[in-house]
Amino acid sequence: MSFKWSDNMAIGNEVIDDQHKELFGKLGDLSEAISEGNDVELIEEVFRYLETYVTQHFSDEEKLMEECEYPEIETQKKEHAGFIEEFKAFEAEFSSKGPSSELAEKTHSWLLNWLCDHIARTDKALGLFLEKN
Ligand SMILES: [Fe+2]
Repeated sequence: MSFKWSDNMAIGNEVIDDQHKELFGKLGDLSEAISEGNDVELIEEVFRYLETYVTQHFSDEEKLMEECEYPEIETQKKEHAGFIEEFKAFEAEFSSKGPSSELAEKTHSWLLNWLCDHIARTDKALGLFLEKN
């Protein structure tokens, strides 16, 4: 399954939108790795990227929310923490069993759902707040 970034996913903050776009690019890489019949190097690369992404992107977003005194910051932090928790399980499987197409598929569908939902709901609300304030 492939999924492309579209402008209606933009929240209106350039830094955040660029990071989201980059993440969707990695999602595309993961999907490519699956369709190429388990490209382990690419799967590994996406996992390494996600490990950095979760810390960098979430901390950038949370810093921005603190700076503008966003009232829903706790909801955001909770969802981000939930992401980190769930990702840990995929990471654990990755470290114990190594990259596999089964793991790539599970990670891909989880990531796609999580991102679409989080961006469309939680990050969009942040975007609206930033626009008004
Ligand atoms: Fe977020």
